[in-house]
Amino acid sequence: MKKEHIGFDLLVFDSENELSDQEKKLMVEARKARKNAYAPYSNFQVGAAVLLENNEIVIGNNQENASYPSGLCAERVAVFQAGAKYPGVAITLVAISAASNTYTVMRPAAPCGNCRQSIAEYEQKQKSPIVLLFQGEKGPIYRCSSVADILPLGFDNSFLGDS
Ligand code: THU
Repeated sequence: MKKEHIGFDLLVFDSENELSDQEKKLMVEARKARKNAYAPYSNFQVGAAVLLENNEIVIGNNQENASYPSGLCAERVAVFQAGAKYPGVAITLVAISAASNTYTVMRPAAPCGNCRQSIAEYEQKQKSPIVLLFQGEKGPIYRCSSVADILPLGFDNSFLGDS
């Protein structure tokens, strides 16, 4: 038996002033997108802003449904829209902002498992890392330099053989 350690470096920024101008801009876009979330059931609004290598920005927000599982998270709304609008253009960064109507979200809300899996698909396809930046309404900003960092031992198409 041998033990292997899987870990990653999470960057924690106390203030957005520590971010690059481009990262700051993406966080602003994510916050703006959050305002248009449709979240009447959870009262938890999420906005996502995707930066592409052609410098286009594509946004998304969570879209809920009375049939709860039919809704979709902000991150997937955004990356699917990017894939639909700019096929083949690599994603460089996804900024995510979360807030609630019922309490003040003071810590960064990391993408859910399904969103990690969906973003990881694009990372594998484009063969370059997708940076994630996420923040609550207030408090620190977390930065992961690759979605693979927060989806260790992930499943990808290499398991599907030659098909
Ligand atoms: N949500 C997101 O939009 N992104 C996440 O990564 C986590 C959760 C949404 C889904 C649902 O509309 C609400 O937040 C509560 O789960």
